[in-house]
Amino acid sequence: MTSHPTTAPAMAHGEAQPSPSHLPIHIAVIMDGNGRWATARGLPRIEGHRRGVEALRNLVRAADTRGIRYLTVYSFSSENWRRPAEEVSELLGLLRFFIRQDVADLSARNVCVRIIGRRDDLPDDIGALLREAETSTAQNTGLTLIIAFNYGARDELLRATQTLAARIIAGDLAISDMTEQHLTDALDTAGLPDPDLLIRTSGEVRLSNFLMWQLAYTEMVFLPVAWPDFDADALDGALVEFSHRQRRFGGLSLDTSIQTKVTA
Ligand code: IPE
Ligand code: IPE
Ligand code: MG
Repeated sequence: MTSHPTTAPAMAHGEAQPSPSHLPIHIAVIMDGNGRWATARGLPRIEGHRRGVEALRNLVRAADTRGIRYLTVYSFSSENWRRPAEEVSELLGLLRFFIRQDVADLSARNVCVRIIGRRDDLPDDIGALLREAETSTAQNTGLTLIIAFNYGARDELLRATQTLAARIIAGDLAISDMTEQHLTDALDTAGLPDPDLLIRTSGEVRLSNFLMWQLAYTEMVFLPVAWPDFDADALDGALVEFSHRQRRFGGLSLDTSIQTKVTA
C-alpha cells in the first residue's frame, strides 16, 4: 500500500504547477484557526475572523484563476452556536457584511453562490440574505461557491432522512427501491459533484462534522497554517500534493493491475 503524507510539503520556489488534467474539480475547505491567529497577535478573536474573510476573498479569486469549478467553504458549523454569544453575534454580522458587500462583485465575475446548512432556525434577515445571494447569482456559469453556514453533516443527514421518510410514508418511494442516489439527492449538496480535495488549515486533523457523506473518497490535505495566513501559494502547495495522489476508489490503479497480471 502506498502511503502519502497527510500534510502538504511547502512548494519549493519555482516548482512546476500541477497540470490542469490533475486539478481537482471541487475543493472543500475547512477554514480553521482564525481565533488562534488573533490570540497569538494579542488581538481579539473577531479580528482573526475579519482577516479570515479577506483570505476567503483571495481564495475565491485564486481558485477561479486556476480553473477550479466548485469551491465549498465551511464558514459556520451547527456546533459553533456553542461559542460565547458575543462571538456568535460577530460571526453572524460578518456573514451579513460578506453577503451585502461581496455578492455583487462575485456575480460580476460570473460566480454562482449556493448555501448549504439548516435554514429554519436562522434569524429572518439572514435567511432572506442567503436566498437573495442564491437567486441573484443562479444564472452565473463560472465558479460555484458553496458556503456551508449553520451546517453540520449529521444535521444534513438527519434532514435528508426525514425527507426520504416522508416520501416513503406518502407512498412516493418504496424502501426496497432506495439507492445511494436517493440519499445523495436529498442532501443540501444535491446536484454537486463530491469534493476531490479537502483542505483544512490550523493543524487540526479532523472533519468537525463537515460533509461526511460527500468526503468518502476525497483526498485530504491538512496544513499547519492558520486560515488568515492561507494564500495562493498555500493553495498551489495543496494542488501539487493533490496531483501526486493516486486515487483508486476501491478499485485498482493501472500500475497495480499490470503488476497483478505479470505475477499471476
Ligand atoms: C474558524 O476559526 C472559524 C469558525 C469556526 C467560525 P476558529 O474560530 O475556529 O479559530 P480557532 O480554531 O479557535 O483558532
Ligand atoms: C470547524 O471548525 C468549523 C468551521 C471552520 C466553520 P471548529 O473550530 O468549529 O472545529 P473544532 O471545534 O475545532 O472541531
Ligand atoms: Mg477552530
